Amino acid sequence: MSRPAQSFDAIILGAGGAGLMCAAVAGQRGRKVLLLDHADAPGKKILISGGGRCNFTNVNAGPQQYLSANPHFMKSALGRYTAADFLALVERHGIAWHEKTLGQLFCDGSARQIVAMLLAECDKGAVTLQLKAPLRDISHADGRFRVKAGDRIHEAPALVIATGGPSIPKLGATGFAYDLARRFGLKVVEPRPALVPLTLGGDQILFRELSGVTTEVVAHAGKASFREAALFTHRGLSGPAILQVSSYWRPGEEVGVDFLPNAVSGWLLAAKRERPRTRLRGFLGTMLPERLATTLVDRLGIDGDLANLPDRKLMHAEAQLGDWRFRPTGTEGFAKAEVTVGGIATAGLSSQTMEARSVPGLYAIGEAVDVTGWLGGYNFQWAWASGWAAGQAL
Ligand code: FDA
Repeated sequence: MSRPAQSFDAIILGAGGAGLMCAAVAGQRGRKVLLLDHADAPGKKILISGGGRCNFTNVNAGPQQYLSANPHFMKSALGRYTAADFLALVERHGIAWHEKTLGQLFCDGSARQIVAMLLAECDKGAVTLQLKAPLRDISHADGRFRVKAGDRIHEAPALVIATGGPSIPKLGATGFAYDLARRFGLKVVEPRPALVPLTLGGDQILFRELSGVTTEVVAHAGKASFREAALFTHRGLSGPAILQVSSYWRPGEEVGVDFLPNAVSGWLLAAKRERPRTRLRGFLGTMLPERLATTLVDRLGIDGDLANLPDRKLMHAEAQLGDWRFRPTGTEGFAKAEVTVGGIATAGLSSQTMEARSVPGLYAIGEAVDVTGWLGGYNFQWAWASGWAAGQAL
């Protein structure tokens, strides 16, 4: 005989950052909440984030650091639950933190502290957490959602999709959110890997020999540009600057790299006047890692004492070094992507509550939604803010 369905006020699918925050907020508002996840532990991405120290927010977080088909969608949630709000929570739990660079806040100790904090907040809200719960049947009738998880059936008038995006499948990430959203008639903006290393091939394969070399650059793809470190890898390009532009890059497009972002216009001609007997290779080696300088000079096809190089060639070299064009062959894919660009289309959701306009009681939050942040704590801030917004509405 089958067991009767257990009844809740809300069922939240996915115990990542967004689902945990949403569950805690709704639970503390007196809602009877069930939080389900197929993984054996909650918050796995939090645990591996920020090199184990979790870059849990960014003090500069605002809509301008997010990509979405609707660049206004995230304004309401980010404005109502800010980086300062999350930081206040972190401090209430006595978690020591520090600002690293560019407004990025990290735990001094371990990312585990963030998961423990969110679980303690869920406990305060008497949230029922069920792990290792493969989701089988999800149906909707008479204003109630029924979810079969393992061998149990649960039902509630509200269902929250918080199962994230497909980046890093080995951690349990899936495209489940999109399938479910489509079943309820919601649209999905084509998902693609983001904050992901780019691969090089063809005649740019030589750059792979620089694997391990890092240098500060300004990288740009389309209209987006970022000044941070770039790293050459055995497959192509990575490092924060490249990960940032990867979110904007489309297959077939070029990525431009300024290898000398501190150099002022005319620096190479000035060097020719000031130190005519210096070789170009040696001179670049004073400004860039030596192996990189050597490869770039080889690719430029000019070398020798600066005095012997025509101004025209030096001007051309300066222009190339300031906007070196790479044409990536692709990305390292979802296996290596920190996040997913695209996802459940915001057009079908309320920006105030994250509720689906066409399906009352259905919500979507976190990375599952077509809102993607830059590298630097912005994605967690979206998870907290969207989770909080839905948690207030459940
Ligand atoms: P998230 O993916 O965290 O959670 C989804 C949950 O749903 C998971 O627990 C999963 O098991 C569960 N689930 C999925 N499919 C399911 C199914 N079919 N049935 C049941 N459960 C299912 N961001 C940042 O701001 N600062 C940082 O330092 C980092 N660092 C970082 C490092 C690495 C290596 C990665 C991969 C990512 C980051 N990020 C980051 C990004 C950040 O981790 C990400 O944006 C958030 O974890 C998204 O939170 P969500 O809760 O939306 O999804």
